[in-house]
Order: sequence, then structure tokens, then C-alpha cells
Amino acid sequence: MTLPAIPLAGVIGNPIAQSRSPRMHRHWLARYGLAGDYVPLEVREANFETVVRTMPKMGFVGANVTIPHKTAALKIADHHSDRAIVIGAANTLIFRADGTIFADNTDGYGFMENLRQGAPGWAPRSGPAMVLGAGGAARAVIVALADAGVPRILLSNRTRPKAEALRAEFGSRIEVVDWVQAGEALADVKLLVNTTSLGMTGQAELKISLDNLRPATVVNDIVYEPLVTPLLQGARDRGCATVDGLGMLLHQGVPGFERWFGRRPAVDDELRRAVLE
Ligand code: ATR
Repeated sequence: MTLPAIPLAGVIGNPIAQSRSPRMHRHWLARYGLAGDYVPLEVREANFETVVRTMPKMGFVGANVTIPHKTAALKIADHHSDRAIVIGAANTLIFRADGTIFADNTDGYGFMENLRQGAPGWAPRSGPAMVLGAGGAARAVIVALADAGVPRILLSNRTRPKAEALRAEFGSRIEVVDWVQAGEALADVKLLVNTTSLGMTGQAELKISLDNLRPATVVNDIVYEPLVTPLLQGARDRGCATVDGLGMLLHQGVPGFERWFGRRPAVDDELRRAVLE
């Protein structure tokens, strides 16, 4: 009797020890009683392609990809989702039975699902959103917001030309706001999203005046260490609904898990507790 192969998945990055993805996927595997495992893989940039091409031969059915490999992951794949192409990076790889690699990007999906779950009262079409930062995470957030029908996106970044470049790429719905004027523009927005690393444990503080922030504005930080960042605390103090960044991580893992292990997993408090342990 031959036993079926145990499907493997993992997260490839450098560094990777801090990743919470293994806890999340292992929690789901145990919860649904599925055969499989999910491992952290620390891989240098020079070795990324060799490693990915070898993984299917070792029983891997796919992988998540994180810093610094997201752009390379898109390049080496044979097939791509539209959203991965638009974002310009991949975070989820599926190794198909025919030997080809499919690349997807679920960051924007994770961001939007987290918002929908955490702030059910927020309606995308209700008004402008402001995005702080213009890096890789901002690209996924902007694509998701535009896709959801947000009418105007105010974009503010310390290095203004990077925000201008995103405007040139993603269109006139984006309006660039000077970094030093971001606080002033807050009065007009229905949603504020921080996509920079500012406010993360060990990083500098996000220095934006919240004086103009209205209680009706929903505030989301993609930083989740600490769970309540100074930005979220400041927003709460002003009566705003806030959404922490952990949910984006949890939701972005759903499509990959479903493709690899055949079951759509739930994002709920039980998962949050397991990942935070
Ligand atoms: P990610 O993929 O997580 O978005 P990234 O592409 O390196 O990471 O982008 C980091 C973002 O945080 C950028 O918008 C960066 O601003 P710059 O484009 O000016 O570098 C922002 N950021 C990082 N440190 C910052 C700081 N001390 N002050 C203001 N913005 C900062």
C-alpha cells in the first residue's frame, strides 16, 4: 500500500525567523485535521530561484514569499494572476502538477478583507482614503482601494517622488500630498492607512498630527507589533474606529492555504490567539 504524499508549503524570506506565517498555517492544518506541514525557509537572494525550482521535487505544493523575494517571485513564475501583475510582486506561489509555477499576490486582498471584517461600517465609495507610504505594501493597498471603488486616494510619502511615481502608474484618482502636510489633509478622509514601518516596535514614531482627524474616519495600521500602535491609540482617543494590522497578515494567507491544502480556512479569534501566542 502506498501512502499519499504529505503536501508541504512554507514561507521563503530573509530573515524569516520572525514570521508568524508558520504558526498560522500549522494552526489551520491542525484545526481541520489535514495532512501537511508549513515551514520557514531562510533563503538568500542569489539562491532564490534554485530553491523555488527545487521545492516541487521535494513535495512542496507552494509557498509564500516575503521580503526580499516578492519581485523575483513574480519574475520566475510561468503564470500570474492579474493582481500580482498590477501590484508588481508576488507573495503566494502555487506549484502545479504539470511543473509550472503560478504567482499570485494576496496582500491587497488581505488588506481589504481585514478592513471589511474589522470596520464593517466603512463603505469604500463613501469618500477619500489617505495612504501613508509608497513602498511595496502601499502598492497592494492602493490597488485594493482603487479596485473597491474608493473615489480618491490621497498619497503621502516622505520621499515625494516615489508617491508621484505611483500616481503616474496608477492614475489620476491618486493625489499626492506633501509628507509635512499629511496631517492637514486628514479632515477630508474617511479612511487612513499607514503602510510605512513607522510605529513598529524598534522603529521611529509616525509623527503626524491627528488634530484634524474626525471620529467618523476609520484608521488602519498595517504594523501589528505592537497590535495597538501609537497611531491606532491616537485614533481611538479621538473616537475613531481602528483596525489593527494582524488581520491583513491572517487574511492574506487564506487563498494560499486553500489552494495548497484544499480547504478554505477561517480567520477568527481562535486564529488570532494561536498566532499571537
Ligand atoms: P514595504 O514593502 O513594507 O512597503 P518598503 O518598500 O521599504 O517596505 O517601504 C517602506 C515605506 O516606509 C516607504 O514609504 C518609506 O518612505 P520612503 O519612500 O521615504 O523611504 C517609509 N518609511 C520608512 N522609514 C521611514 C521614516 N523614518 N520616515 C518616513 N517614512 C519612512
